[in-house]
Amino acid sequence: MKSFNNKVAAITGAGSGMGRTLAQNLAAQGCHLALSDVNEAGLAETVALLKDSGVRVTHQRLDVADRKAMFAWADQVVADHGKVNLIFNNAGVGLAATVEGMKIEDFEWLMNINFWGVVHGTQAFLPKLKAAGEGHIINTSSLFGLLAVPSQSAYHASKFAVRGFTESLRQELDMTDCGVSATCVHPGGIKTAIARNSRMDASIQALGMDEKKAGKKFEQNFITTAEKAAAIILKAVQKNDRRVLVGPDAKMLDKLARLAPSAYPRVLAKLIKR
Ligand SMILES: NC(=O)c1ccc[n+]([C@@H]2O[C@H](COP(=O)([O-])OP(=O)(O)OC[C@H]3O[C@@H](n4cnc5c(N)ncnc54)[C@H](O)[C@@H]3O)[C@@H](O)[C@H]2O)c1
Repeated sequence: MKSFNNKVAAITGAGSGMGRTLAQNLAAQGCHLALSDVNEAGLAETVALLKDSGVRVTHQRLDVADRKAMFAWADQVVADHGKVNLIFNNAGVGLAATVEGMKIEDFEWLMNINFWGVVHGTQAFLPKLKAAGEGHIINTSSLFGLLAVPSQSAYHASKFAVRGFTESLRQELDMTDCGVSATCVHPGGIKTAIARNSRMDASIQALGMDEKKAGKKFEQNFITTAEKAAAIILKAVQKNDRRVLVGPDAKMLDKLARLAPSAYPRVLAKLIKR
């Protein structure tokens, strides 16, 4: 997709962070928007920021973990806009916990959003993107879908799964030449609310971490702005890239993990302990 002008994009998790900056960047390029988030206050703020954008903006509360609601939203987007060309399966949450101490409810909560939310969004929108004749599915994994660090086992499980799901999807879309493509997004540390919205479990004390300070510590590694991240992601969609690494940290650590797949976990665990 070379131009976003007069296209229609649906974005989940549009009430904050990269979902919001993707919406702003797309609107500036003349793309009409269907926005959703489970957080209605955040979503309303995004909509207010777009009020003079000149594009058509619709919005509704949506929990991406709710498969039925996702399919109903996809129908609604086409009813409102006449078509849909892009789905950004962007909504996501974080969890810090050890494998041993993690509550299964927390693990399921995260998987239902980060993994199943992406599956629901992909399956609900794919037939509609095909019907539009030109479509793109953008699924947000993470640098943590490429390598692992301690305390993030659930997040890694969800983001490695998004990566495998999306790479296989892209192969199928290419093989069937259906006018729809897919890109898997791997952001490094991006300055958003993700750490503040994460669940921090006391079990990480066993790793020498403090659950009350872990969010702030994570944020110290957030080096790329959400505006820059959106610009990088949208360029990758225009170039039809299979995967996009967002930020210098993502590029550098991805190289490290591929060059030293057995040694990198020890190096990162040591760095994190400091
Ligand atoms: N910020 C980073 O450093 C970073 C790095 C790698 C990957 N990511 C991924 O990028 C994506 C966007 O996150 P962000 O950094 O902009 O964080 P953010 O917290 O600023 O935004 C995430 C949005 O998702 C929404 N959301 C949460 N649960 C939801 C649900 N059940 N249904 C619908 N919406 C829901 C939140 O309300 C929020 O508005 C996520 O998938 C995240 O995992 C972020």
